[in-house]
Amino acid sequence: MKIVSGIQPTGQLHIGNYLGAIKQWIEFQDKEDCIFFIADLHSLTIPYDPAALQNSVLETAIAYLAAGINPSKSIFFAQSKVKEHTELAWILNTLCPLGDLERMTQFKEKSKQFRKNINAGLLTYPILQAADILLYKSEAVPVGKDQVQHIELAREIARKFNQKYGDTFPEPKPILSEGAKIMSLKDPKKKMSKSTPEGCLFLFDEPGDIKNKIMSAVTDTGKQIKYAPKTKPGISNLINIYSLISKKPIKEIESQFKGLGYAQFKNSLTELLIQSLEPFRRKRRELLPRKIYIDEILKMGASKAKTIADSTMQEANKKAGLL
Ligand code: ADP
Ligand code: TRP
Repeated sequence: MKIVSGIQPTGQLHIGNYLGAIKQWIEFQDKEDCIFFIADLHSLTIPYDPAALQNSVLETAIAYLAAGINPSKSIFFAQSKVKEHTELAWILNTLCPLGDLERMTQFKEKSKQFRKNINAGLLTYPILQAADILLYKSEAVPVGKDQVQHIELAREIARKFNQKYGDTFPEPKPILSEGAKIMSLKDPKKKMSKSTPEGCLFLFDEPGDIKNKIMSAVTDTGKQIKYAPKTKPGISNLINIYSLISKKPIKEIESQFKGLGYAQFKNSLTELLIQSLEPFRRKRRELLPRKIYIDEILKMGASKAKTIADSTMQEANKKAGLL
């Protein structure tokens, strides 16, 4: 199966992103043809600092490589370096009804959030995303729930292209990661999200931060270490994290901590996280000073992607009467 997904060059990775999504991507690398790219063109649609963009792309590349993207198994590159993304997007622009774009939830939300900058790119964002997917004739796209609507639009665009110009693109399907939903450490009724960083445990947090965050994580009244997400959302979230990281079933954790208090459980979870996240921190530390090496990885990835993109564009241009 051909898999593609894009990553916005913003924000730090938290354990929700890792356990809920990235971990599954890493597993796909061994079984499927994977393409992962940094969606730098998409990030231009909201206010940003041009002087900082290259560094954000580099940081994002380092973060995902440290998290496990393996450039010898997957194709990994920055979107803007493969110009065929925008080339195909133009043709797809002419196939997509305006009304479909105007009803996208993300467009509506971002237009509210950035009232002073409702640019056309914010509206046509899903067309570029469709191009990202169709350019590689991808069949499946691992994404979060909020992106499903965009993948469905990409399906429709593929169908329209095929109807108008003849069978060319497979209709891509979203793959929703089945990973766990991790809740905020400060408000366990809400999901851990980079929009509320105070509730996040980041993948590259240092041991001292891990300790502070876990020890001060919101727990519930009572003192039993028991998994009951409805009545004890705080401790249940921590037990869930413990279970996913240690690969021990929840029942086993409950009996391991039977009769012990929250503090002992939190101490143990702190130790577990400090140890288990160490390889991520180490890998990131190793990569941070190796800018030339990272650039080389992205360049190699772009060159592999370009070979596929070139051949799709030949076909699409020909079918559209441009060649
Ligand atoms: P955030 O909500 O922090 O902005 P994103 O929307 O960038 O995260 O999500 C990136 C990926 O991480 C998505 O596939 C999403 O499903 C997953 N993800 C984000 N937050 C969580 C969470 N708290 N638990 C599980 N998965 C999550
Ligand atoms: N829009 C996606 C997001 O915000 C990123 C993205 C861009 C993407 N192009 C893509 C995801 C193609 C999957 C496939 O998370």
